[in-house]
Amino acid sequence: MQKGKTLIFAHRGSKGTHPENTLEAFREAIRVGADGIELDVHLSKDGELVIIHDEKVDRTTNGSGKVGQMTLAELKSLDAGSWLSWEFAGATIPTLDEVLELLKGTGIKLNVEIKSDVIPYEGIEKKVLETIGRHGYLENTVISSFNHYSVKKIRELNPNMRTAILFMELLYQPWNYAKSVGASALHVHLSVAYSEMAREAPAHGFPIRVFTVNKEKDMRNLFRAGVDTIMTDYPELALAIRDGK
Ligand code: G3P
Ligand code: CA
Repeated sequence: MQKGKTLIFAHRGSKGTHPENTLEAFREAIRVGADGIELDVHLSKDGELVIIHDEKVDRTTNGSGKVGQMTLAELKSLDAGSWLSWEFAGATIPTLDEVLELLKGTGIKLNVEIKSDVIPYEGIEKKVLETIGRHGYLENTVISSFNHYSVKKIRELNPNMRTAILFMELLYQPWNYAKSVGASALHVHLSVAYSEMAREAPAHGFPIRVFTVNKEKDMRNLFRAGVDTIMTDYPELALAIRDGK
């Protein structure tokens, strides 16, 4: 890929076509040639890092209840694919370990979002760093969160770690605040992606990564604007537009 091209991250894997946050969705993102994948991490009752978006399993599995009140074995017994299509029956909630095993040798970038903004899982930051480190994947990873205390903790634990604050609003010079948190990038909602704030950030050393970009028109506009990264549920479509295939 040429230098300067906007990177394309598969949001929760190839969420538009595959069950979000499953190995099936991540495998698809690798297959289509996405530059990176984004995923969401929670902590199970028995302290395992599991990949799922919501605090509850209800929307994306055939079970019900809170992720943090279920053991890994209980979470693993759930079907995380059938809710989308029978084709994906048998897909399970993966662990962060399993995803990192899948990424081995691919060189694909990884954005781990720590979902500690609703439930502040005790010790999740240390576990995330240890797990990624064990797989030798720290260099390819950026860790983000809507909980900026988590971002700060990550940087305290590993001052070299690439981190990003997630936010939805138009803020005044958020790079000053981001520096105080120890973040090295801004992950912003599409609604503020065309703002003065987003245009100015790179000159202050803060790349802009935009979520979630699913419309062709936005993809084209953001590629033209030269944002660092878009996160999309449709990486195959985004790649075709960006690379003119
Ligand atoms: O990390 C970007 C984006 O995934 C944040 O929002 O709700 O899709 O996790 P959400
Ligand atoms: Ca996310």
